[in-house]
Amino acid sequence: MITFDSCKTLEPHHNLNNAQIRSTGNNVDLLLEKIAKSFDNKPVLKGIDLSIEQHEFVAVLGKSGCGKSTLLRILGGLEQPDSGRILKAGKSYQADKTRVLFQEPRLLPWLNLLDNVTLALPDRWNKEKSRKMAHDILLKVDLQDQINSWPSYLSGGQKQRVALARALISTPQILAMDEPFSALDALTRFNMQHLLEQVWIENGFTVILVTHDVGEAILLADRVVLIEEGIITQNIAIDFPRPRKVRCHTLNDLENDLLDQLLKIKAA
Ligand SMILES: Nc1ncnc2c1ncn2[C@@H]1O[C@H](COP(=O)(O)OP(=O)(O)OP(=O)(O)O)[C@@H](O)[C@H]1O
Ligand SMILES: [Mg+2]
Repeated sequence: MITFDSCKTLEPHHNLNNAQIRSTGNNVDLLLEKIAKSFDNKPVLKGIDLSIEQHEFVAVLGKSGCGKSTLLRILGGLEQPDSGRILKAGKSYQADKTRVLFQEPRLLPWLNLLDNVTLALPDRWNKEKSRKMAHDILLKVDLQDQINSWPSYLSGGQKQRVALARALISTPQILAMDEPFSALDALTRFNMQHLLEQVWIENGFTVILVTHDVGEAILLADRVVLIEEGIITQNIAIDFPRPRKVRCHTLNDLENDLLDQLLKIKAA
């Protein structure tokens, strides 16, 4: 496990500092034990062991095709593992409090933002209540003025913010994100990363973020794990205060180390 003490002069601008937003001690909330999955007799996941604390932010890295999305789909209940088990707070895991966010926003073009965001709410037919909920959640992603707009009028970043709002409205315990910002331009991506960090701090859910962007992983995550040959081969605590600065030299060193590791895997 690697931890760092430098770069601690950063001024936190969130209301909560790092010590307050992370739970103390080793408080395992989500436990993945020996998760295995094959497709057409080809093993993809060969025994994923991972323990995650409540409100932890975990980034998952690994080369293309190593099974990152498969793992997220299993967590989202969209795929069943062949073997292994998942426990949540010591009990059998139910995926219904997990929301999955994909690379593409997957909005329904024939519904306005109000209906897109409230689509999965059980009492969405209570128009007044669901409109209030949609307004409040769109406020978090700064789209409250667009509640009656159609998805086709929105930019890529705005659409992804609606997708985030749609995930947040059902107060998930776990937000599983599959390269959610990879299709966005650099500035929009930076804004989305900042927004995600803010809503994560404010709302107390756990994040599992799959990304190819090592810098993004280090900027946002409490911990970075690397999947290689179907198992987790690296599990690195990113023990830095928030908000982190992209150009902090120690973060850059860590980014380079992780990139080297990934490039070694790719070359092998
Ligand atoms: N439903 C499926 N049927 C058959 N093979 C599948 C299925 N889903 C995934 N696979 C295979 O499992 C492997 C892992 O796929 P997965 O999408 O999880 O990789 P990934 O790590 O997310 O890759 P990327 O970084 O490119 O998104 C790939 O070889 C893929 O072809
Ligand atoms: Mg994938």
